[in-house]
Amino acid sequence: MDIQSLPDFSNRDTVRDPYPAYAYLRDHHPVYWCDHLKAWLLTRYCDVFAAQGDVKRYSSNRMQQLVDARVPPEKRGQLATFVKLASQWMYSQDGDIHKASRNLLGKAFTPRSIESLRQSIQDITDRELSRLEPSTDLKANLFDRIPALILAMLYGIASEEALKLRRWMKDIVMFLGGSLDPGYGPEQALEGVEEMYVYFAAIIEQRRKQPEDDLVSRVLEASQDSASSNDEVLAQIVFILVAGYNTSADQLCIGLLHLLEHPEQLEALKADLNLVKPAIEEMLRFDAAGSLSHRVLNEDVTIGNVTMKKGDLVYLIRASANRDPAKFTDPDAFDIRRTNNDHLAFGRGEHFCMGTALFRLEAEIVFTSLFKRFPKLSLIAGKPAIWRTNNLQFRGLKELPIDLGKGV
Ligand code: HEM
Repeated sequence: MDIQSLPDFSNRDTVRDPYPAYAYLRDHHPVYWCDHLKAWLLTRYCDVFAAQGDVKRYSSNRMQQLVDARVPPEKRGQLATFVKLASQWMYSQDGDIHKASRNLLGKAFTPRSIESLRQSIQDITDRELSRLEPSTDLKANLFDRIPALILAMLYGIASEEALKLRRWMKDIVMFLGGSLDPGYGPEQALEGVEEMYVYFAAIIEQRRKQPEDDLVSRVLEASQDSASSNDEVLAQIVFILVAGYNTSADQLCIGLLHLLEHPEQLEALKADLNLVKPAIEEMLRFDAAGSLSHRVLNEDVTIGNVTMKKGDLVYLIRASANRDPAKFTDPDAFDIRRTNNDHLAFGRGEHFCMGTALFRLEAEIVFTSLFKRFPKLSLIAGKPAIWRTNNLQFRGLKELPIDLGKGV
């Protein structure tokens, strides 16, 4: 569907399918001030790419501006603790402080340490697949569970605890993404952050006394070689969950839906599971779960004939960049055989996602196992997938009803 006028991002239909709106902005207003979001929107690949590499002018220290854009002045004071805590997350940091936080995790989060999780991720996936009913909502009963169980394993916490943590992570992420839904307001986000900090402070204390073979213990060990305080360690430990849970759950779910909506590609994939890696990259390009990031300008920036002012909030719309015809051939086509798929779903540069290896491994195992076990799985006639429409930043489904064609 083409649109011919300025988009309305407070409209749930636009949130459900924002791609026509992005196409319009790329063509007509590539640097667009959005009153609803109180931010500039950059939608072209070249501009998003340049901005994320320009850490001098585009700061990641964004929490106060995000709260100011979302919360009326009389309520902002209540969120001072939220802003303070969330500003210590590495994704809100710049320069040397940011590098120190990344190093803290980098030592614990190497591609080798992720690859060593392969068998455990396979075991979790197999266990979860074997408890599925023949006709089921795969969002609630599979994709919402697997990433939480994997993160629990990484953190050395019990599975039931991880399933409980999901509520806090959702509350925080939905608020950060600018939810249209009053159920995900600042109060819920603050409560989620505070409860998560109490929970993980206790875990850190336990691991200090008795280290285990888990991520928390490895980050603590790395922190002994650096000058990082307990608060900084805690901030990054909590942030990994905030960054890694919803994105992974939503991306797996969205990815499967697009495959099911392109049956000829699904058949090709089932016939040759070597296509699973390019298929995952195409899911990320075509419809990334984390569809944008924010920055705050350190100085006035002019693109074309538009000047954005120092202190303004800017949205880097990666989902739009990934559909830019100036970069990708036939960008609105979902094509699992696409080559040169240089998408921006994981960002780029200094803030490049630290969870790429984990997500790619997880997705490879989940999709391969799912199709081997349930080769006949299909959507259910009369029960379509339902999109969440409360949040432009974090795309995802509410429900994905599936008939597993139970062959096993
Ligand atoms: C499909 C899944 C995922 C997507 C689409 C995604 C996307 C992103 C993006 C776009 C950024 C950059 C944010 C910015 O520039 O402001 C980012 C940062 C980050 N991601 Fe992911 N992510 C995913 C999964 C994960 C997972 C599984 C983890 C860890 C368990 C993770 C950990 C992080 C961390 C720690 C950062 C911050 C890096 C920094 O600021 O230096 N992500 N992610």
